[in-house]
Amino acid sequence: MDIQGKIKQLIDKREIARQGGGLKRIESQHSKGRFTARERIEMLLDDGSFEEYDMFVTHRSHDFGLENELYLADGVVTGHGTIDGRIVYVYSQDFTVFGGSLSETHAKKICKIMDQAMKVGAPIIGINDSGGARIQEGVQSLSGYAEIFQRNIMASGVVPQISAIFGPCAGGAVYSPALTDVIIMSDKNSYMFVTGPKVTKSVTGETITTENLGGATVHSTKSGVAHFKAESEEEGIMLIRKLIEYLPQNNLEDPKATVCGDPYDRREEALNHIIPENSNQAYDMKDIIYLIVDNAEFLEMHRHYAKNIIVGFAKLEGRPVGIVANQPSFLAGVLDIEASKKAARFVRFCDAFNVPILTLVDVPGFLPGSNQEYGGIIIHGAKLLFAYGEATVPKVTVTIRKSYGGAHDVMSSKQLRGDINYAWPTAEIAVMGAKGAIEILNGKEIAAAQTEEEKMALMQKYEAEYNDKFANPYEAAKFGFIDDVIEPRNTRFRVIRAFRTLLTKKDVNPPKKHSNMPL
Ligand code: HXC
Repeated sequence: MDIQGKIKQLIDKREIARQGGGLKRIESQHSKGRFTARERIEMLLDDGSFEEYDMFVTHRSHDFGLENELYLADGVVTGHGTIDGRIVYVYSQDFTVFGGSLSETHAKKICKIMDQAMKVGAPIIGINDSGGARIQEGVQSLSGYAEIFQRNIMASGVVPQISAIFGPCAGGAVYSPALTDVIIMSDKNSYMFVTGPKVTKSVTGETITTENLGGATVHSTKSGVAHFKAESEEEGIMLIRKLIEYLPQNNLEDPKATVCGDPYDRREEALNHIIPENSNQAYDMKDIIYLIVDNAEFLEMHRHYAKNIIVGFAKLEGRPVGIVANQPSFLAGVLDIEASKKAARFVRFCDAFNVPILTLVDVPGFLPGSNQEYGGIIIHGAKLLFAYGEATVPKVTVTIRKSYGGAHDVMSSKQLRGDINYAWPTAEIAVMGAKGAIEILNGKEIAAAQTEEEKMALMQKYEAEYNDKFANPYEAAKFGFIDDVIEPRNTRFRVIRAFRTLLTKKDVNPPKKHSNMPL
């Protein structure tokens, strides 16, 4: 073959590889409202930035006549490209080739880009759309999964790992996304479960649909497995690009600051009027977040799960921050098992990748009851406590209203190495709320009162006394647990100035193999 022939051969081979499992299967993919592996990569990366690896890899299986069915790239497109000019490594499973199932070579391709990402210190993005282990390959495929899992584990906390689920993801295959930092599921077309509806039926007798067992809605509301439910694949891909903006390339870098048009010293009069006079009345903590952060932009994670706590990313004078905030408009912002786990994971995510944490506190305490105790609130609450106490990133806390009991300590208190702790004048920092305290301190005296009126009068008297003494920020400020009581309207610039001073913060934990946090 002459040189021109050889060049043409290359071009032809590339064209064949780009067709994956063939036009019919591509049409079938499109007819289900799903994009192909390559279309997804194209949407994800900056125009023309994709460099593909291993396009000519094929499987090596000789069983079940598979040697006669070879597809270039073997069901997964891998390589690197850029997002807003920053390098990322990506794999995207191609459902048109053996249903995107994972063979030995398919796994090797994924491992190769994971290794490369670790070498250069760049994020890994996995787009999952796969029927699981390539059945014809048996144990080779299982070993391939385990190779990926091991790399997910080694990469954890070193480079950001983001998983999109845009199709099936079942059986042991779910554990690769589960080991990554963020899971995004597209609505309707994706599902994740360890065992599907058929096995569930035969083992437990339960009849359940795929969507109800492992759809995006279930995982973004009930299980908390998915951080985001995207209405479409396009939205899912936009979310990946957005997330990358808030994260550094790796754990040795800081997140990149961008130019910010929003004045750092913007005063917000509305904040002086946002807290209801009655401290048992709810308000939406997100209104406060939007007024504080740059351009009212807040990327909320786990929006539909454990809504009593809010977590997500925003920027303050162009610098990314993670925000953790109690939500008084849902279950009064109480800390329960799910909220503790959700926030703990987020705090550790931020800490691993040098994202400073802003904590906004309005928490009446931990949720009481046998459900919570039997479910292990002790251990799960300790996760959040541990995460805050272990975190060495800059931590700024603003107590907006309630901060009671153990929950006060947990929510980035001074003693958990909170760097700068502010409170609004509306803050109530105490061991417990007035009602509970009065019952314990004055319950016998109140019970002994002759009439209901007398009981009520006593209760009101003691409650007023308790509130005067404790339902304020000054008791805590008196001891230096609160650094300053600030006017709500000044929160943005006080917090920004606090983070500015912490830009050079250095804090370390004692050397150890690893902690033994209460998992
Ligand atoms: C080989 C597979 C495959 C697989 C699908 N295909 N899954 N080939 N191994 N695991 C092929 C089909 O033969 C078909 O080939 C094409 O992909 C599309 O599949 P369809 O069934 O036509 O598509 P659809 O109706 O959309 O159904 C998709 C599906 C179904 C729900 C994923 O294919 C399915 O149930 N597959 C098997 C899932 C499974 O049990 N996997 C193993 C799980 S155990 P043609 O040639 O017709 O296009 C596992 C263990 C991992 O994964 C352990 C890790 C530790």
